[in-house]
Amino acid sequence: MSGKQSFYITTPIYYVNDIPHIGHAYTTLACDYLARFKRLDGYDVMFLTGTDEHGQKVEKSAAAAGKTPIEFCDQVSQRFRELAKFMNFSNDDFIRTTEERHKRACQALWKRLEENGHIYLDKYAGWYSVRDEAFYGENELIEGEAQKNGEREKLAPTGAPVEWVEEESYFFKLSAFEEKLLAFYEEIPPTVMPQSRKNEVKSFVEGGLRDLSVSRTSFKWGVPVPGNDKHIMYVWIDALTNYMTAAGFPDEDSEIYKKFWPADIHMVGKDILRFHALYWPAFLMGAGIDPAKRVFAHGWWTNEGQKISKSLGNVIDPFQIVEEFGLDQVRYFLMREVPFGNDGDFSRQSMINRINSDLANDLGNLAQRSLSMIFKNCDGAMPSPGALSDADNAILAQVDGLLPEVRAHVDVQSIHKSLETIWKTVSDANGYFALQEPWALKNTDPDRMATVLYVTAEVIRQIGILIQPIMPDSAAKLLDQLKIPEDERGFDHLCGDHRLASGTAIDKPEGVFPRFVE
Ligand code: MSP
Repeated sequence: MSGKQSFYITTPIYYVNDIPHIGHAYTTLACDYLARFKRLDGYDVMFLTGTDEHGQKVEKSAAAAGKTPIEFCDQVSQRFRELAKFMNFSNDDFIRTTEERHKRACQALWKRLEENGHIYLDKYAGWYSVRDEAFYGENELIEGEAQKNGEREKLAPTGAPVEWVEEESYFFKLSAFEEKLLAFYEEIPPTVMPQSRKNEVKSFVEGGLRDLSVSRTSFKWGVPVPGNDKHIMYVWIDALTNYMTAAGFPDEDSEIYKKFWPADIHMVGKDILRFHALYWPAFLMGAGIDPAKRVFAHGWWTNEGQKISKSLGNVIDPFQIVEEFGLDQVRYFLMREVPFGNDGDFSRQSMINRINSDLANDLGNLAQRSLSMIFKNCDGAMPSPGALSDADNAILAQVDGLLPEVRAHVDVQSIHKSLETIWKTVSDANGYFALQEPWALKNTDPDRMATVLYVTAEVIRQIGILIQPIMPDSAAKLLDQLKIPEDERGFDHLCGDHRLASGTAIDKPEGVFPRFVE
C-alpha cells in the first residue's frame, strides 16, 4: 500500500426489509461525495456500504414474502448494489452481514467484550420494538390513538409498536461507560456532529445509562453467541460490527486494518444516532479498540412538505427521479439544496430551479458560450493569452484559491457550503465574462478577446476538476472538451501551475447541462 494518508468512510448498512428509496441514496451519496473528494485530494480512500440482513424484522419480512431469509436477503441486497451502480457511487466494498467474514468478526468482538468482563447473563423484562430493533424504557414510551385492553396503546417514541419481552439475555455493561462517553463527546476535533446532535446524545448519557440487553432467544436469524448458540446477538451489535469486518477485523495485523481503522467518518441519519454515537463507541471502548473519529448525523427528507412513508404512498424512488431529471442533476440537487445536517424538503419545483439556474444557466452557459467562441473564432484551438488585466488576475486568483476554502467545508461535512463556494466563483466568472464582452471584442480587439476566452476556459478547467466529486460524468465531459488528460484531473492540478496549454485543438463543444423543460 502507498504511503498516502488514509480516509475510511462508511454508510449505514441498509435493512433489506425495504426497497431502496431516496433516504438510502442520500446517505450514500453524501459519502460518495466525500470519498471522491478525498481521493482527488490525494488520500487512500476506503468507502464502504452494504446491507443489514439479520434480525427479527428481516425474518418476518422474508416469511411475509414466502421466502427463506437468505433468498429474501439475496434478492433485496442485490437491489442496493444496483442502486449504488446506478447512482455512480464509488464504494470500494459492499458488505453483507450474512457473509462468513462478518460472522467471524462479530464473534471475535463478542469474545473480546466477554473476556474484558463487560458481558453477563441475566433476564430481560421490558419493551422491544421489532420495527426499530430497539429496547425502550417505560418512561420513553408514548401513547398511541388506538385502545388496547381499555387503555391507550403504548408506542415507541418513534411511533413504532412495542411488545413486552421477558427472556434470558446477555447484557452489556453500558452503565460503566458514562464517563468515558462524556469525555469522548468533548474530544477535538469533534467526534459527533453536528453540534445539536452531539448535545442530544450527551444529554441522553447524562440522564444515566442502563445496561443493554445484547442477545435474544426468540428468533434464529442472526449470529449465534459464541459458546451459547441458544442466543442470537442483538442485531445492532451485529450490524455495527460491519464497519470493522470490512477493515479486516479480527486480523488486527493486516495491512488494511492498520491502514483504515479507526474509521474517519460513520455517516448516518439522525434516527440512528444513538446506536452509532453511544452504543458503538461503548462496545469498542469495552473491547479496547479505538472508536471512529467522527459520527455525522444528517437530516431527513420530506416530500413536498410531507413525511415520507410507505403508507402515505409518497416514497421517492431514486431510479425514477434520475430517469426524469438526470443523474448528475439529482446528485447536485440533493447535496446543494439543503444545509447538510438539516432536514430538507424535496419538491419538483426546487429541483427544476436548481437544474435550470445553477447548472444550465450559470455553469452550462458559461462553458458553452466561451468554448463555442474559442472553437469558432480561435481556429478551434485554445488561444494564447496576452498581458493580463486586473479583472483577469482577479478571477484567476479567485479560482486558484478555491481548493483550501472548499476543503475547509468538506472537512466539517458542510457539503452544501463546499458547493456554494464553487458556485460563487462560477457566478463571478459569469460576471467577468459579461463585463468583458468578448463577442464585442471580436472585431475591435481580437487579441484581447483571446485573452478573455483563455481566462474563462482556465476557470472552467479548475471548476471542472472541483466538481468531479458531485457530478463525475458531467465534469468528465467538461474536462474532455478542454482536452485535459485523465492524469491531470487531480486536485494537485488546481492552482496556477498547471494552466491550460495554448494551441491545444478542441472539438466543437456540446452543452453539458441541458435546461429542464416540463
Ligand atoms: N440497518 C440500519 C442501519 C445499521 S448501520 C450499522 C438502518 N437501516 S435503514 O435502511 O432503515 O436506514 C438507513 C439510512 O437511511 C439511515 O441513515 C436513515 O437515516 C436513512 N433514511 C431513511 N429515510 C430517510 C429520509 N426520508 N431522509 C433521509 N434519510 C433517510 O437504519
